[in-house]
Amino acid sequence: MNVNGRHYRTIWLNDNGWAVDIIDQTKFPHVFETVTLRSTDDAAVAIRDMLVRGAPLIGVTAAYGMALAMRTDASDAALARAYDQLVKTRPTAINLKWALDEMMKSLSPLPQSDRLWAAYARAAEIADEDVAINQSIGRNGFDIIKSIAAKKKPGETINILTHCNAGWLATVDWGTATAPIYTAHDAGLPIHVWVDETRPRNQGASLTAWELLHHGVPHTVIPDNTGGHLMQHGQVDMAIVGTDRTTAQGDVCNKIGTYLKALAAHDNGVPFYVALPSPTIDFNVVDGVKEIPIEQRSGIEVSHMSGLTRDGRIETVEIVPRGSRVANYAFDVTPAKYVTGLITERGVIAANRVAIAKAFPERAV
Ligand code: MRU
Repeated sequence: MNVNGRHYRTIWLNDNGWAVDIIDQTKFPHVFETVTLRSTDDAAVAIRDMLVRGAPLIGVTAAYGMALAMRTDASDAALARAYDQLVKTRPTAINLKWALDEMMKSLSPLPQSDRLWAAYARAAEIADEDVAINQSIGRNGFDIIKSIAAKKKPGETINILTHCNAGWLATVDWGTATAPIYTAHDAGLPIHVWVDETRPRNQGASLTAWELLHHGVPHTVIPDNTGGHLMQHGQVDMAIVGTDRTTAQGDVCNKIGTYLKALAAHDNGVPFYVALPSPTIDFNVVDGVKEIPIEQRSGIEVSHMSGLTRDGRIETVEIVPRGSRVANYAFDVTPAKYVTGLITERGVIAANRVAIAKAFPERAV
Protein backbone atom coordinates (compact mmCIF):
# COMPACT_ATOMS: atom_id res chain seq x y z
CA MET A 1 0.00 0.00 0.00
CA ASN A 2 1.15 3.55 -0.65
CA VAL A 3 1.64 5.87 2.32
CA ASN A 4 2.47 9.46 1.37
CA GLY A 5 3.60 8.31 -2.08
CA ARG A 6 5.87 5.50 -0.84
CA HIS A 7 5.00 1.81 -1.18
CA TYR A 8 5.09 -0.08 2.08
CA ARG A 9 4.58 -3.62 3.15
CA THR A 10 3.77 -4.01 6.85
CA ILE A 11 6.99 -5.93 7.56
CA TRP A 12 10.34 -5.84 5.79
CA LEU A 13 14.06 -6.48 6.32
CA ASN A 14 15.95 -3.55 7.78
CA ASP A 15 18.70 -1.97 5.65
CA ASN A 16 21.26 -3.81 7.81
CA GLY A 17 19.99 -7.03 6.17
CA TRP A 18 19.08 -8.94 9.34
CA ALA A 19 16.81 -6.94 11.66
CA VAL A 20 13.11 -6.67 10.85
CA ASP A 21 11.11 -3.45 10.54
CA ILE A 22 7.42 -3.18 11.31
CA ILE A 23 4.86 -0.40 11.61
CA ASP A 24 3.75 0.20 15.21
CA GLN A 25 -0.02 -0.23 14.92
CA THR A 26 -0.67 0.83 18.52
CA LYS A 27 0.06 4.42 17.43
CA PHE A 28 -2.57 4.55 14.67
CA PRO A 29 -4.33 6.52 13.32
CA HIS A 30 -2.49 9.61 14.50
CA VAL A 31 1.16 8.54 14.30
CA PHE A 32 2.95 6.50 11.59
CA GLU A 33 6.03 5.08 13.24
CA THR A 34 8.25 2.13 12.40
CA VAL A 35 9.98 -0.10 14.95
CA THR A 36 12.97 -2.40 14.46
CA LEU A 37 12.85 -5.96 15.84
CA ARG A 38 16.32 -7.27 16.70
CA SER A 39 15.59 -10.45 18.62
CA THR A 40 13.00 -13.17 19.18
CA ASP A 41 12.02 -11.32 22.36
CA ASP A 42 11.30 -8.19 20.30
CA ALA A 43 9.14 -10.19 17.88
CA ALA A 44 7.25 -11.85 20.76
CA VAL A 45 6.57 -8.50 22.44
CA ALA A 46 5.45 -6.94 19.13
CA ILE A 47 2.87 -9.71 18.67
CA ARG A 48 1.74 -9.87 22.32
CA ASP A 49 1.39 -6.10 22.70
CA MET A 50 -0.21 -5.81 19.25
CA LEU A 51 2.31 -3.54 17.56
CA VAL A 52 1.56 -6.05 14.82
CA ARG A 53 -1.79 -7.78 14.73
CA GLY A 54 -4.12 -9.48 12.27
CA ALA A 55 -3.78 -13.22 11.72
CA PRO A 56 -1.51 -13.28 8.62
CA LEU A 57 0.84 -10.56 9.87
CA ILE A 58 1.16 -12.25 13.27
CA GLY A 59 2.27 -15.40 11.42
CA VAL A 60 4.88 -13.63 9.30
CA THR A 61 6.26 -11.75 12.32
CA ALA A 62 6.60 -15.05 14.19
CA ALA A 63 8.44 -16.57 11.21
CA TYR A 64 10.95 -13.71 11.30
CA GLY A 65 11.14 -14.16 15.09
CA MET A 66 12.46 -17.68 14.44
CA ALA A 67 14.98 -16.31 11.92
CA LEU A 68 16.21 -13.79 14.49
CA ALA A 69 16.69 -16.63 16.98
CA MET A 70 18.95 -18.47 14.50
CA ARG A 71 21.42 -15.55 14.52
CA THR A 72 22.73 -16.38 17.96
CA ASP A 73 22.05 -20.10 18.25
CA ALA A 74 20.91 -22.51 15.55
CA SER A 75 20.72 -25.62 17.73
CA ASP A 76 17.63 -27.84 18.03
CA ALA A 77 17.16 -26.50 21.57
CA ALA A 78 17.18 -22.88 20.32
CA LEU A 79 14.64 -23.73 17.62
CA ALA A 80 12.33 -25.32 20.18
CA ARG A 81 12.77 -22.40 22.59
CA ALA A 82 11.91 -19.80 19.93
CA TYR A 83 8.91 -21.86 18.78
CA ASP A 84 7.56 -22.18 22.35
CA GLN A 85 8.05 -18.51 23.14
CA LEU A 86 6.38 -17.28 19.95
CA VAL A 87 3.49 -19.74 19.83
CA LYS A 88 2.28 -18.55 23.23
CA THR A 89 2.07 -14.85 22.31
CA ARG A 90 -1.57 -14.93 21.14
CA PRO A 91 -3.92 -17.90 21.34
CA THR A 92 -6.63 -17.52 18.69
CA ALA A 93 -5.15 -16.79 15.25
CA ILE A 94 -3.99 -20.13 13.85
CA ASN A 95 -1.65 -18.45 11.32
CA LEU A 96 0.81 -18.04 14.18
CA LYS A 97 1.14 -21.79 14.72
CA TRP A 98 0.92 -22.47 10.98
CA ALA A 99 3.88 -20.16 10.22
CA LEU A 100 5.94 -21.56 13.11
CA ASP A 101 5.23 -25.12 11.96
CA GLU A 102 6.31 -24.16 8.43
CA MET A 103 9.57 -22.77 9.83
CA MET A 104 10.15 -25.92 11.87
CA LYS A 105 9.49 -28.13 8.83
CA SER A 106 12.06 -26.19 6.80
CA LEU A 107 14.72 -25.80 9.47
CA SER A 108 14.83 -28.89 11.64
CA PRO A 109 16.07 -31.31 8.91
CA LEU A 110 18.98 -28.96 8.06
CA PRO A 111 22.46 -28.95 9.57
CA GLN A 112 22.88 -26.07 12.03
CA SER A 113 25.23 -24.24 9.64
CA ASP A 114 22.43 -23.90 7.05
CA ARG A 115 19.63 -22.84 9.35
CA LEU A 116 20.25 -19.10 9.48
CA TRP A 117 20.00 -18.35 5.76
CA ALA A 118 17.23 -20.92 5.34
CA ALA A 119 15.20 -19.27 8.11
CA TYR A 120 15.36 -15.83 6.49
CA ALA A 121 14.57 -17.36 3.08
CA ARG A 122 11.51 -19.26 4.37
CA ALA A 123 10.22 -16.25 6.34
CA ALA A 124 10.52 -14.08 3.21
CA GLU A 125 8.71 -16.76 1.21
CA ILE A 126 5.86 -16.88 3.74
CA ALA A 127 5.58 -13.09 3.47
CA ASP A 128 5.51 -13.23 -0.36
CA GLU A 129 2.99 -16.08 -0.31
CA ASP A 130 0.71 -13.95 1.86
CA VAL A 131 0.78 -11.13 -0.70
CA ALA A 132 0.04 -13.53 -3.58
CA ILE A 133 -2.81 -15.18 -1.65
CA ASN A 134 -4.39 -11.82 -0.88
CA GLN A 135 -4.16 -10.68 -4.50
CA SER A 136 -6.01 -13.84 -5.53
CA ILE A 137 -8.63 -13.26 -2.82
CA GLY A 138 -8.96 -9.75 -4.25
CA ARG A 139 -9.63 -11.09 -7.76
CA ASN A 140 -12.08 -13.74 -6.57
CA GLY A 141 -13.96 -11.32 -4.32
CA PHE A 142 -14.07 -8.78 -7.13
CA ASP A 143 -16.19 -11.22 -9.16
CA ILE A 144 -18.78 -11.23 -6.36
CA ILE A 145 -18.79 -7.44 -6.16
CA LYS A 146 -19.20 -7.23 -9.95
CA SER A 147 -22.21 -9.54 -9.80
CA ILE A 148 -23.78 -7.37 -7.09
CA ALA A 149 -23.06 -4.25 -9.17
CA ALA A 150 -24.71 -5.90 -12.20
CA LYS A 151 -28.02 -6.06 -10.30
CA LYS A 152 -27.93 -2.33 -9.51
CA LYS A 153 -28.50 0.72 -11.69
CA PRO A 154 -25.34 1.77 -13.61
CA GLY A 155 -23.13 3.92 -11.36
CA GLU A 156 -25.13 3.10 -8.21
CA THR A 157 -23.00 2.77 -5.07
CA ILE A 158 -22.17 -0.70 -3.76
CA ASN A 159 -22.24 -0.62 0.04
CA ILE A 160 -19.97 -3.11 1.79
CA LEU A 161 -19.80 -3.55 5.55
CA THR A 162 -16.63 -4.77 7.23
CA HIS A 163 -15.68 -5.45 10.82
CA CYS A 164 -12.31 -4.95 12.55
CA ASN A 165 -9.27 -4.63 10.30
CA ALA A 166 -8.68 -7.44 7.84
CA GLY A 167 -6.83 -4.96 5.69
CA TRP A 168 -3.33 -4.19 4.50
CA LEU A 169 -2.29 -3.66 8.11
CA ALA A 170 -3.45 -7.15 9.13
CA THR A 171 -1.43 -8.82 6.39
CA VAL A 172 1.81 -8.17 4.52
CA ASP A 173 -0.03 -6.27 1.77
CA TRP A 174 -3.52 -5.87 0.29
CA GLY A 175 -5.44 -7.34 3.23
CA THR A 176 -7.93 -10.16 2.95
CA ALA A 177 -11.40 -8.60 3.37
CA THR A 178 -10.13 -5.36 1.85
CA ALA A 179 -8.44 -6.97 -1.18
CA PRO A 180 -11.73 -7.31 -3.14
CA ILE A 181 -12.65 -3.78 -2.05
CA TYR A 182 -9.36 -2.29 -3.27
CA THR A 183 -9.55 -4.33 -6.50
CA ALA A 184 -13.12 -3.16 -7.20
CA HIS A 185 -12.33 0.45 -6.30
CA ASP A 186 -9.19 0.47 -8.48
CA ALA A 187 -11.28 -0.94 -11.35
CA GLY A 188 -13.59 2.05 -11.08
CA LEU A 189 -16.62 0.55 -9.31
CA PRO A 190 -18.39 2.99 -6.98
CA ILE A 191 -17.66 1.34 -3.63
CA HIS A 192 -18.60 2.69 -0.23
CA VAL A 193 -17.51 0.88 2.94
CA TRP A 194 -19.32 0.88 6.28
CA VAL A 195 -16.50 0.51 8.81
CA ASP A 196 -17.49 -0.95 12.18
CA GLU A 197 -15.46 0.93 14.80
CA THR A 198 -14.70 -2.42 16.53
CA ARG A 199 -14.57 -1.72 20.23
CA PRO A 200 -12.68 -2.12 22.43
CA ARG A 201 -9.45 -1.60 20.47
CA ASN A 202 -11.10 0.23 17.59
CA GLN A 203 -9.26 -1.52 14.78
CA GLY A 204 -12.01 -0.42 12.39
CA ALA A 205 -12.00 3.23 13.39
CA SER A 206 -8.24 3.56 13.70
CA LEU A 207 -6.82 1.11 11.15
CA THR A 208 -9.39 0.27 8.45
CA ALA A 209 -10.58 3.87 8.20
CA TRP A 210 -6.96 5.05 7.96
CA GLU A 211 -6.22 2.59 5.15
CA LEU A 212 -9.35 3.38 3.17
CA LEU A 213 -8.72 7.10 3.57
CA HIS A 214 -5.16 6.74 2.23
CA HIS A 215 -6.36 4.63 -0.69
CA GLY A 216 -9.20 7.04 -1.47
CA VAL A 217 -12.02 4.56 -0.89
CA PRO A 218 -15.23 6.31 0.28
CA HIS A 219 -16.17 5.02 3.72
CA THR A 220 -18.11 5.84 6.87
CA VAL A 221 -17.13 4.76 10.38
CA ILE A 222 -20.10 3.51 12.39
CA PRO A 223 -20.52 2.44 16.00
CA ASP A 224 -20.55 -1.34 16.27
CA ASN A 225 -24.28 -1.48 16.94
CA THR A 226 -25.29 0.27 13.70
CA GLY A 227 -24.91 -2.50 11.11
CA GLY A 228 -28.22 -4.24 11.86
CA HIS A 229 -30.15 -1.01 11.40
CA LEU A 230 -28.42 -0.29 8.09
CA MET A 231 -29.16 -3.80 6.84
CA GLN A 232 -32.85 -3.44 7.73
CA HIS A 233 -32.96 -0.31 5.59
CA GLY A 234 -31.28 -1.79 2.51
CA GLN A 235 -28.07 0.14 2.99
CA VAL A 236 -25.71 -2.84 3.00
CA ASP A 237 -25.26 -4.88 -0.18
CA MET A 238 -22.81 -7.34 1.30
CA ALA A 239 -20.54 -7.87 4.29
CA ILE A 240 -16.93 -9.05 3.98
CA VAL A 241 -14.93 -9.87 7.10
CA GLY A 242 -11.64 -11.57 7.85
CA THR A 243 -10.94 -14.61 10.00
CA ASP A 244 -8.41 -15.66 12.61
CA ARG A 245 -9.25 -19.33 12.36
CA THR A 246 -11.73 -21.21 10.20
CA THR A 247 -12.55 -24.78 11.13
CA ALA A 248 -12.74 -27.87 8.92
CA GLN A 249 -16.54 -27.46 8.79
CA GLY A 250 -16.38 -23.72 7.98
CA ASP A 251 -17.07 -22.07 11.34
CA VAL A 252 -15.34 -18.70 11.38
CA CYS A 253 -13.59 -17.20 14.38
CA ASN A 254 -13.02 -13.47 14.00
CA LYS A 255 -12.97 -10.25 16.04
CA ILE A 256 -15.65 -10.02 18.72
CA GLY A 257 -18.90 -8.76 17.22
CA THR A 258 -18.56 -10.56 13.89
CA TYR A 259 -21.17 -13.12 14.96
CA LEU A 260 -23.77 -10.42 15.67
CA LYS A 261 -23.22 -8.95 12.21
CA ALA A 262 -23.63 -12.38 10.65
CA LEU A 263 -26.94 -12.84 12.50
CA ALA A 264 -28.19 -9.46 11.34
CA ALA A 265 -27.07 -10.22 7.76
CA HIS A 266 -28.88 -13.57 7.87
CA ASP A 267 -32.10 -11.97 9.13
CA ASN A 268 -31.98 -9.36 6.36
CA GLY A 269 -30.85 -11.52 3.44
CA VAL A 270 -27.54 -9.66 3.16
CA PRO A 271 -24.73 -11.86 1.75
CA PHE A 272 -22.08 -12.43 4.44
CA TYR A 273 -18.68 -13.36 3.00
CA VAL A 274 -15.47 -14.29 4.79
CA ALA A 275 -12.10 -13.68 3.13
CA LEU A 276 -10.10 -16.79 3.97
CA PRO A 277 -6.42 -17.32 3.14
CA SER A 278 -5.68 -21.05 3.40
CA PRO A 279 -3.14 -20.75 6.27
CA THR A 280 -6.09 -19.60 8.40
CA ILE A 281 -7.86 -22.97 8.06
CA ASP A 282 -7.44 -25.23 11.08
CA PHE A 283 -8.26 -28.73 9.87
CA ASN A 284 -7.74 -30.08 13.41
CA VAL A 285 -10.76 -28.20 14.71
CA VAL A 286 -14.34 -28.92 13.66
CA ASP A 287 -16.77 -27.16 16.02
CA GLY A 288 -15.47 -23.63 16.35
CA VAL A 289 -17.77 -22.58 19.19
CA LYS A 290 -16.66 -25.46 21.39
CA GLU A 291 -13.05 -25.89 20.35
CA ILE A 292 -11.38 -22.57 19.47
CA PRO A 293 -9.61 -20.88 22.40
CA ILE A 294 -10.90 -17.31 22.71
CA GLU A 295 -8.35 -14.75 23.81
CA GLN A 296 -9.40 -12.69 26.83
CA ARG A 297 -7.51 -9.44 27.04
CA SER A 298 -6.99 -6.84 29.73
CA GLY A 299 -10.08 -5.06 31.03
CA ILE A 300 -8.19 -1.78 30.61
CA GLU A 301 -9.01 -1.96 26.90
CA VAL A 302 -12.71 -1.79 27.83
CA SER A 303 -12.56 0.65 30.74
CA HIS A 304 -10.23 3.14 29.03
CA MET A 305 -10.01 4.86 25.64
CA SER A 306 -7.17 6.75 23.98
CA GLY A 307 -7.37 9.58 21.49
CA LEU A 308 -5.95 12.82 20.21
CA THR A 309 -6.54 15.92 22.32
CA ARG A 310 -7.23 19.31 20.75
CA ASP A 311 -3.64 20.35 21.41
CA GLY A 312 -2.27 17.28 19.61
CA ARG A 313 -1.41 14.97 22.52
CA ILE A 314 -2.45 11.31 22.72
CA GLU A 315 -4.29 10.88 25.99
CA THR A 316 -6.00 7.95 27.67
CA VAL A 317 -9.19 8.48 29.65
CA GLU A 318 -11.29 6.25 31.86
CA ILE A 319 -14.89 5.67 30.68
CA VAL A 320 -16.20 3.06 33.15
CA PRO A 321 -16.88 3.72 36.85
CA ARG A 322 -14.10 2.46 39.05
CA GLY A 323 -15.41 -0.65 40.79
CA SER A 324 -17.47 -1.96 37.83
CA ARG A 325 -16.23 -5.26 36.47
CA VAL A 326 -15.43 -5.45 32.76
CA ALA A 327 -14.97 -8.41 30.38
CA ASN A 328 -12.87 -8.41 27.24
CA TYR A 329 -13.40 -11.40 24.95
CA ALA A 330 -11.37 -10.62 21.85
CA PHE A 331 -13.02 -13.00 19.36
CA ASP A 332 -16.25 -14.86 18.67
CA VAL A 333 -17.27 -17.68 16.38
CA THR A 334 -19.76 -17.40 13.53
CA PRO A 335 -21.21 -20.85 12.73
CA ALA A 336 -20.79 -21.90 9.09
CA LYS A 337 -24.56 -21.78 8.47
CA TYR A 338 -24.43 -17.97 8.55
CA VAL A 339 -21.56 -17.68 6.05
CA THR A 340 -22.66 -17.14 2.42
CA GLY A 341 -19.24 -18.09 1.07
CA LEU A 342 -15.53 -18.25 1.80
CA ILE A 343 -13.43 -16.13 -0.54
CA THR A 344 -10.19 -18.09 -0.80
CA GLU A 345 -7.15 -17.84 -3.06
CA ARG A 346 -8.56 -20.83 -4.97
CA GLY A 347 -12.00 -19.37 -5.54
CA VAL A 348 -15.20 -18.73 -3.64
CA ILE A 349 -16.31 -21.89 -1.87
CA ALA A 350 -19.13 -22.97 0.43
CA ALA A 351 -18.50 -22.93 4.16
CA ASN A 352 -18.70 -26.67 4.69
CA ARG A 353 -16.38 -29.61 5.26
CA VAL A 354 -16.62 -31.10 1.76
CA ALA A 355 -15.98 -27.84 -0.10
CA ILE A 356 -13.06 -26.82 2.12
CA ALA A 357 -11.37 -30.23 1.91
CA LYS A 358 -11.91 -30.30 -1.88
CA ALA A 359 -10.34 -26.86 -2.33
CA PHE A 360 -7.32 -27.64 -0.13
CA PRO A 361 -6.85 -31.43 -0.31
CA GLU A 362 -3.13 -31.21 0.52
CA ARG A 363 -3.94 -29.64 3.89
CA ALA A 364 -7.04 -31.62 4.88
CA VAL A 365 -6.55 -34.19 7.66
O1 MRU B 1 -7.00 -8.71 17.58
P1 MRU B 1 -6.60 -8.47 16.14
O2 MRU B 1 -6.54 -7.03 15.78
O3 MRU B 1 -5.35 -9.23 15.78
O4 MRU B 1 -7.80 -9.13 15.32
C1 MRU B 1 -7.78 -9.10 13.93
C2 MRU B 1 -8.98 -9.70 13.30
O5 MRU B 1 -9.90 -10.15 13.96
C3 MRU B 1 -8.96 -9.82 11.81
O6 MRU B 1 -10.24 -9.73 11.28
C4 MRU B 1 -8.36 -11.20 11.42
O7 MRU B 1 -7.11 -11.36 12.03
C5 MRU B 1 -8.24 -11.37 9.98
S1 MRU B 1 -6.92 -10.39 9.32
C6 MRU B 1 -6.75 -10.69 7.69
